[in-house]
Amino acid sequence: ADFPALRRALLTWFDARGRDLPWRAGPEGRRDPYRVWVSEVLLQQTQVVRGRVYFERFLTAFPTVEALAAAPVEAVLKAWEGCGYYARARNLHRAAGTVAREGWPQDYAGWRALPGVGPYTAAAISSLAHGEARAVNDGNVRRVLARLWGERQPTEPWVQARADGLLDPARPGAWNEAVMDLGATVCIPKAPKCPECPVAAWCVARASGDPAGFPAPKVR
Ligand code: ADE
Repeated sequence: ADFPALRRALLTWFDARGRDLPWRAGPEGRRDPYRVWVSEVLLQQTQVVRGRVYFERFLTAFPTVEALAAAPVEAVLKAWEGCGYYARARNLHRAAGTVAREGWPQDYAGWRALPGVGPYTAAAISSLAHGEARAVNDGNVRRVLARLWGERQPTEPWVQARADGLLDPARPGAWNEAVMDLGATVCIPKAPKCPECPVAAWCVARASGDPAGFPAPKVR
């Protein structure tokens, strides 16, 4: 595929149509690490629509990492109420103590070392807050890439390799969020909205006439 043209098409769409979300404020690739970190941990198991509300509430309660570190864990759990998966709140609190003492992580490996930060979250944060070229990889990314390449049974290494290769090295954070938004609003599981898709011209699944058939349901 013509990667430069495909990247330009998706990023142009993202710049015009990307979702307006509270944690997306700030300069591209240099966003406030605290807001990015809290939002990515929240979005691990909470949907974007509900995540917005909890995000605002959490940031009002703990506006800075210092405030979070200084708070009793009970207050943090209280602010997390309704989100579920309380291990996330405990990890945020514990990691805030580390950050308050040692400063912010500066790259993927640094983020990965914090409790509660897995490969997806570290890739998202390091691309959004540091401009590091790290591709996120989750169910949405898997679906979008399986369709683009017409791969019915994408393996984990296949998805990661395609995601790494397609990532726009000039705008890695925006690229990751563009793929997330495409997967959430256009390249959706059951009835993808191909007429609205900025990269439909490159999509093998679309050309096949049955885009929803990619990827094939997992056999178990
Ligand atoms: N899901 C995980 N991270 C996200 C982000 N930054 N924007 C939208 N959805 C997300």
